[in-house]
Amino acid sequence: MQYSRPQAIISADFIRKKVRLRPTVGLITGTGLGAAAQLEDPEAIFSFSDIPGFPTLMAPGQTGRISAGKIGSTELLALEGRFHLYEGHSPEAVAFPVRVMQELGIQTLILSNAAGGINPHFSPGDIMILTDHINLTGQNALVGPNEEAWGVRFPDMSQAYDRPLSRMAEKAAATLGISIQKGIYAGLLGPSLETPAETRYLRTIGADAVGFSTVHETLVAVHAGIRVLGLSLITNVHDPNHPQPLTSDQVILAGKASASTLATLIRETFAAYDLHGIL
Ligand code: HPA
Repeated sequence: MQYSRPQAIISADFIRKKVRLRPTVGLITGTGLGAAAQLEDPEAIFSFSDIPGFPTLMAPGQTGRISAGKIGSTELLALEGRFHLYEGHSPEAVAFPVRVMQELGIQTLILSNAAGGINPHFSPGDIMILTDHINLTGQNALVGPNEEAWGVRFPDMSQAYDRPLSRMAEKAAATLGISIQKGIYAGLLGPSLETPAETRYLRTIGADAVGFSTVHETLVAVHAGIRVLGLSLITNVHDPNHPQPLTSDQVILAGKASASTLATLIRETFAAYDLHGIL
């Protein structure tokens, strides 16, 4: 079966053979945020298409690369690029890289994305730590027979985003003088951007940011017992009373402008990881 455990094991074995390091921390970066995957002395950079069993077809402008390397003494496996539902991928395909990470022994996962601001107090360039999410995609990567070796049938979601990790990121931001937002990410199917009425609805239901990724990766990570840190780079802020046209070029440019801040935050967070070894 597609995206089954045997398939994830084949992909994981391939990566294990290519990579000398044995990372326990994974990183998946989103649109234009590839720069966040700035590892020291990266080894074994290769393309998603090289990995047997991996989904193919990426959004235009997205790279699909895997690298392993270190930040301080922390070993990371970094995936630049991801699969989206709006490209026609199933939720299982979208979350498959997380299953492969699970098979590789990853215990901590950082998911970064570009998102639209829903909270009127947000500004473009802000970084938001995800405290929770709302899955509005109408789909779930955990539908179907449950793979017991992967996790339980009804995974608890009372704290999908790990609090100690989020606190570490917050502390890292304070050390760096980066102002940080915290909030709830609404995951939509896309690819059409939000209408003003949808923006109002998202505000009403308590969302602070909106995007087309992350929720299925988080659901699978939580199911896998992997702790998650979610970081959104706010590229634009929706104002339903003064709707402005938005292009993907604007989103990509705004993402690029702040990608290095996000990379610095991730590095500093792992400097703290070295020191405190948390959890
Ligand atoms: N909506 C959905 N996804 C996004 C947005 C947005 O406004 N900005 C960046 N990613």
